[in-house]
Amino acid sequence: MCGIVAIAVSERREDLGVILTEALKRLEYRGYDSVGVAVVDSGVLRVAKNVGAVDAVAKLEGFARLSGSVGIGHTRWATHGAPTRENAHPHVDCGMRVAVAHNGIIENYSELKEMLRSRGHVFASETDTEVVPHLVEELKSSGADTYSAFKRAISMLRGAFAIVAVDAGHPRRIFFARKVSPLIVGLGDGVVLVSSDIVSILPFTNRAVVLNDDEVGYAEPGLVFVEALGGGPADLSSRVVQVEYAAEDFGKGPYEHYMLKEIYEQPHSLAQTLSGLVSAKEEVERAARVLGESDNVYVVGAGSSYHASLVGALYFRYLGLRAYAFVASEASVYLRGVGEGDAVVAVSQSGETIDTLLAVRESVRRGARVVALVNNPLSTIAREAGTYVYLRSGPEISVAATKTFTSQVAALVYLGTVLAKDGSHTSRVLEALRRLPEVTASVIESSEGAARSLARRMSSAQSAYYLGRAFGYPISAEGALKIKEVAYVHAEAYPAGESKHGPISLVVREFPVFFTVVGELDELVEGNVEEMKARGAYVVTVLPRDRVTPVLERNSDAMISLPRVSLEVSLVTYVIPYQLLAYYTAVERGLNPDRPRNLAKTVTVF
Ligand code: G6P
Repeated sequence: MCGIVAIAVSERREDLGVILTEALKRLEYRGYDSVGVAVVDSGVLRVAKNVGAVDAVAKLEGFARLSGSVGIGHTRWATHGAPTRENAHPHVDCGMRVAVAHNGIIENYSELKEMLRSRGHVFASETDTEVVPHLVEELKSSGADTYSAFKRAISMLRGAFAIVAVDAGHPRRIFFARKVSPLIVGLGDGVVLVSSDIVSILPFTNRAVVLNDDEVGYAEPGLVFVEALGGGPADLSSRVVQVEYAAEDFGKGPYEHYMLKEIYEQPHSLAQTLSGLVSAKEEVERAARVLGESDNVYVVGAGSSYHASLVGALYFRYLGLRAYAFVASEASVYLRGVGEGDAVVAVSQSGETIDTLLAVRESVRRGARVVALVNNPLSTIAREAGTYVYLRSGPEISVAATKTFTSQVAALVYLGTVLAKDGSHTSRVLEALRRLPEVTASVIESSEGAARSLARRMSSAQSAYYLGRAFGYPISAEGALKIKEVAYVHAEAYPAGESKHGPISLVVREFPVFFTVVGELDELVEGNVEEMKARGAYVVTVLPRDRVTPVLERNSDAMISLPRVSLEVSLVTYVIPYQLLAYYTAVERGLNPDRPRNLAKTVTVF
């Protein structure tokens, strides 16, 4: 949800605009409404920005012609103001001395804007961000140096944000501040970077400092100063971390889109997740102990992470725990009554989703023990949860989650298995999970052809139902979300038994209905399949080979029959045909599945 990056180099670079463009390309998944950069060169501030994707805007606006020794860049996911050139970041002050890029929301911007207007400042955009450069300019006009003015301006803002700024009078200095939205400082040789995501820092360095909430500071090559707003300077010596990813992990490889690459990567990402869980024995056992000792276990997440939470909570129930899942955005209501005897599992790929973070904070405040499942160990959620389990799925660039969803389910199943009291169950499941990467490869292979041919049909469909019972429901919900997200097909998931209570009234000839047959209550799904077929629906069943019955065969227009595997392995893998179907439907419709309209990968606003 908006990506920001700033870079300062010790020697002036002719290609600073090119460097910023490359960094922005890595952040593009955070928003692709507009793009912009600002550089300071020989005491002059230059800004170039426009609506569109990074490559196109960079070409159109001549980013490559920008040189200098410090610059900032921004990819926008619009919140305040439409995606227009005027609203694109960076924003500047009246005197064209200060430029600012921002991720998040400044809640009190209207009153600040009014105050600044009354002081003669002229605004060029509808954004909340633009108040910041004008505020810095205003505070500087009464004699403050840039950093003091910046710091004072930040202390006047309410909301959740990450901000980077440059000043024409400071040829090598980046000013930055963080309140809730993530911000990382990368420390390289002769270069320093500040970014909302480690991905744009990695080509330069893998040494970084993660800023805390309410920290503000400035950086130049070889010099980083950080302080807590209202507190003293921070000692960074113990806060420098080495990041594990290699810059090559971020490429598309031979695939046309990241989404397809990430679907195909699942045998590998799941192998990484599992070996990570095995080697992080202590953390995993600690996390399992927390869950096992708790009165109730609440599993919380957003989007695909919520669907993984539903699978996880149901699996914990299957093992005898009192477990519940709910959406992170409603945590303040669902967490009422949660207390010291309870555990909360926060599931988040990015570890930065604001709703999930707030759920973690509320749980901690209530005295519950929190276990986070994240794919970014530097993330805020990982740092604020008592215990975290690192998914090790590798970077996921496509906006729609695929490989991280399967890793989340695998990790939840693994946790459940470790805490299960029945030793023979545990060893049976662990044995089955060992085969997970190989089974995943075979599920991809078994689904590929059917997904491609169904995609041709789905490319002209308006709507679809995805139905399943018990475990089949959250997997169906994830399938429906995928096709909705990337192919813009209206798809709804229901517990199959509920389909008779309303949804079936929409079913006419050829209406696509997908059934996920996995685990519990499977025999009851047969009745639903018959009912749908009787109304002329186009029925597709996704099921294990040994579950193909004459009734299902007779009533299905298409079947995706998958390898016969244990319940746990099917919980992880049976979503894959739906991932592929969503991908190929998007491609059939001429859409770019990596960049679904209006969506952002990391949602850092409420
Ligand atoms: C956004 C993304 C989804 C993701 C959800 C939760 O909506 O587009 O793909 O599932 O956020 O993100 P998280 O990082 O918390 O898993």
